[in-house]
Amino acid sequence: MSKDKFTVTAALPYANGPLHLGHVAGVYLPSDIFVRFLRMNNHDVAFICGSDEHGAAITLRAKKEGTTPKEIVDKYNGIIGKAFNDFDISFDIFHRTSEKIHHETAQDFFKVLDEKGHFTKETSQQYYDEEYNQFLADRYISGECPTCQNPNAYGDQCEKCGSALSPNDLKNPKSTLSGKTPIMRETSHWYLPMERHEEWLTSWIKEGKLDGVQQHDPKKWRNQVVGQCMSWIDGGLRPRAMTRDLEWGVKVPVQGGDGKVLYVWLDAPIGYISATKQWAIENNKDWKDYWTGDRKLVHFIGKDNIVFHAIIFPILLKAHEGLILPDNVPAYEFLNLEGDKFSTSRNWAVWLHEYIEAYPDKIDELKYVLTSIAPETKDSEFTWKEYQSRINNELADILGNFVNRTVVLTQKYYDGIVPAPGAYTDEDKEVLMEIEAIPGRISELVYKYKLRDAQAEAMNLARLGNKYLADNEPWKKVKDPANAERVQTIMYIALQITANLSIVLQPFLPSTAKKIGSFLNFTTKEWSDASAIHQIPSGHVTDTKSAYILFQKIEDSQVDAEVEKLNASRTVETVFEPQKDETSFDDFTKMDIRLGTILEAEKIKKADKLLKLLVDTGLDKRTIVSGIAKHYSPEEVIGKTVTVLMNLPPRKIKGVESNGMILMAENADGKLSFVSPEKDFEAGSGIS
Ligand code: 2FM
Ligand code: ZN
Repeated sequence: MSKDKFTVTAALPYANGPLHLGHVAGVYLPSDIFVRFLRMNNHDVAFICGSDEHGAAITLRAKKEGTTPKEIVDKYNGIIGKAFNDFDISFDIFHRTSEKIHHETAQDFFKVLDEKGHFTKETSQQYYDEEYNQFLADRYISGECPTCQNPNAYGDQCEKCGSALSPNDLKNPKSTLSGKTPIMRETSHWYLPMERHEEWLTSWIKEGKLDGVQQHDPKKWRNQVVGQCMSWIDGGLRPRAMTRDLEWGVKVPVQGGDGKVLYVWLDAPIGYISATKQWAIENNKDWKDYWTGDRKLVHFIGKDNIVFHAIIFPILLKAHEGLILPDNVPAYEFLNLEGDKFSTSRNWAVWLHEYIEAYPDKIDELKYVLTSIAPETKDSEFTWKEYQSRINNELADILGNFVNRTVVLTQKYYDGIVPAPGAYTDEDKEVLMEIEAIPGRISELVYKYKLRDAQAEAMNLARLGNKYLADNEPWKKVKDPANAERVQTIMYIALQITANLSIVLQPFLPSTAKKIGSFLNFTTKEWSDASAIHQIPSGHVTDTKSAYILFQKIEDSQVDAEVEKLNASRTVETVFEPQKDETSFDDFTKMDIRLGTILEAEKIKKADKLLKLLVDTGLDKRTIVSGIAKHYSPEEVIGKTVTVLMNLPPRKIKGVESNGMILMAENADGKLSFVSPEKDFEAGSGIS
């Protein structure tokens, strides 16, 4: 394979919260595996990431935590950066979009596009929150998704179905600041007329061709990436605003831009370029080498980022001129957790930094499990039970067991020196051929971004070794001196498998691969070496005396404790109904609301939600049917003083005439509570 040049990016995480295992499995671990593999193949690679520090994700978080955006990004950039480091994600740089070099790069980029006439400036009516004096774009506005009817879609995107949206697409829009229905107000913005780009995008995405020249292999693009882009393009691209009326962000650098910043999805991907610039400065390189010419640009992202990386950013890159477009955009589906979606607001997550703190010596174990279940083509799920079974049954019982047997027996029989093989049997020859073939199969899979299968293929080498030892039982044969040469052959082959494992596991389990190499006193970094059968010659002095067990088994008690911890920390999402539309004081005073005391209560047959209540209202004793039976028993409500809406017209419910309504409070959990007076007031007291 000729040496290619790669610039690999991993989606810049918003610096508004820590990373959870879903982020890791679907972006950072696969990109790291891919890059480690490329480096072993001597490709020229830059691996770029950083934190995304602008946009509503940040400012809304600051509002929630009662602090400033600057404090938020500093805090989470620190937590995220440390977690990446501890998890041994091998970025060449982890940068920040709040850095000066980024602001300048993004502003220059904007100016170039503006000068070349790639933007239009339009004045339009946009949603505005009068209470907060703010225009509502992106996450500042929410409403019903036109595609999947999710009632909580944002103005830029629906997190449920992944559709990219504009505020005007939302049904029943509400401000996320005040919860109120916004008004319309006029404002001017720079727009990217995306419809101008439909034709070339279609040919580029579907056929990989740009101006008739083959740019990438479209067969290597994942179906969901092509599918999502084409459904967007087929629906007709529309002009998209590239600026916002906000304070926090990269200032619009041209006339008329006062009080406006760049749209975060314009600024963030340019962050890949500014991070490369910073890295180039620190390493005496020219950043342009990484964004021009015959270099492959690869963006690892989650599925909710597809259109931004495969449509909008390519439009911007092409419009800028002279910069390369992505060769591939490997997008991952979502990882779920124990039967539910990862959710920051409900605290339903396994946080990477917390895992690392709890299990600092089980980094490769987590990498292995996450790659095994990576959501490459469909959503997948992390459970602690599977974490346990993959570690115990695969890492410990197959890989760990094989390596341990090999090193222990080598130490015992040969004092750690690689023995000379005798004649090979047919089975030996087959095993040797497999050793030779596996690295090639892994390569093929990695270049197709099938990292889950690639890791499984690397594990097949351990499986092969384990079976070979189990079938040949050198520990039995060794008892008969006549078998000495046969045992030497078996152990020689087992040692070659072990050495090869330390190469092919490197991209996936870097620390384990290193440990295996150290047991054998063997180091190599080149992938091309991996298909050599004879890695360590007879007579080579290993360090098997220093070997130890690679993987400890996970106890049931640990799994139970983790699941318990997860359930205990789950918080109920407090999503309350937005405020209703205005009413008048007159309408309010028309309602007759009073305190009433419940005198009698009974269940209603065939209506498990209803109680029939006799209520003393001060004026009369009347029957009211109330839907509280799931929350209160008849016995416990008798004697309670509650709030009654008196003047509703009588209504028959399950054959019983109800004369009014008991007012109830309902919390986010759906639990009901009476609204009762704080002082001991008598029935009939009016409420106004
Ligand atoms: O979805 C996200 O988390 C974004 N912060 C990803 C940005 S990727 C790139 F464009 F910077
Ligand atoms: Zn949706």
